[in-house]
Amino acid sequence: MKIIDLRSDTVTKPSKAMRQAIANAEVGDDVWGDDPTVNKLQDICKELTGKPAALFVSSGCMANQLAVKCHTNPAEEIIAELNSHIVKYEIAGPAFISGVQVMPVAGVNGVLNADDVKEHIRPDWYHFPKTSLVCIENTHNRAGGSIYPIEDIKQISIVCKENNLKLHLDGARIFNASVETRISIMEYASHADSISFCFSKGLGAPVGSILCGETEFITKAHKFRKILGGGMRQAGILAAGAIYALEHNVERLKDDHKNAKHFAEEISKLDWVDIDPLSVQTNIVIFKTSRNAAELVKKFKQKNILLSNDGFSKLRAVFHLDVSEEQTEDAIKIFNTI
Ligand SMILES: Cc1ncc(COP(=O)(O)O)c(C=O)c1O
Repeated sequence: MKIIDLRSDTVTKPSKAMRQAIANAEVGDDVWGDDPTVNKLQDICKELTGKPAALFVSSGCMANQLAVKCHTNPAEEIIAELNSHIVKYEIAGPAFISGVQVMPVAGVNGVLNADDVKEHIRPDWYHFPKTSLVCIENTHNRAGGSIYPIEDIKQISIVCKENNLKLHLDGARIFNASVETRISIMEYASHADSISFCFSKGLGAPVGSILCGETEFITKAHKFRKILGGGMRQAGILAAGAIYALEHNVERLKDDHKNAKHFAEEISKLDWVDIDPLSVQTNIVIFKTSRNAAELVKKFKQKNILLSNDGFSKLRAVFHLDVSEEQTEDAIKIFNTI
């Protein structure tokens, strides 16, 4: 049986047609601003988000870290949800790159509301760092692909404006939210000062993310991208995969959500799996298990199913364009034999 790789939606491989688009890409030196395909991708993303400027970057981490860098000054503080990617998986990047401290705030399902944000803004006092940025994540990875309610985003945006804070939206999987809610990327972006999203996750491109915002912000980010070694030359080869992904792989994200929800429903019937299937909103299924999670990962691997675990008692299965409906059924069957 072919391996069913449910570790992440980052494991997708470029399809033949995407590879063809990559092979045919017109390229130039993007550090000189000469790459027509990168420029085209950045223009598409400006249109999609309604932001005046966009910058193609190597990864979601780079997009987030550039946002933190360009919205803050050293010795300031940023507010981010406790289990957000920026807090959990970016290796203290805000401290290392921007010299800022993170105020991690626990949300519900990865979601902070306006009061949570308000409560954690530092008063202006010489003992305190200045709060300068709020980061939110939609969909929220560690919360199992949960969708940030638009009303909360709007209210947080108002609090940010009232308190002179910037708002960054880590939209690594914003298309998963958008196809589910039918709220446009532009609407989501309109409430934030900057938005990033990834082409290399559910959209199936091999490499790359975008950061969008005001012109002055992106001009600054462009400089820091270079400092971080992120200036890429004939990057049109990568941008072509991203454009292909935007043109062909957005609507089909719905299929991944359908597979994820069906999978969650079926495995919730097993006595060693603890999950509320209704909690699955998009393509990520995170479940607790009464068994040893690390051992289970090994067992499933022997049966050609790859899962990821957080080192504790939770396992994660992510659905993406390289997992078909049939493979979802196969995975469910194998879960029933364990
Ligand atoms: C919500 C979120 N933001 C950012 C990233 C970072 O993306 P990358 O792995 O491309 O650096 C990830 C990666 O999984 C993510 O889930």
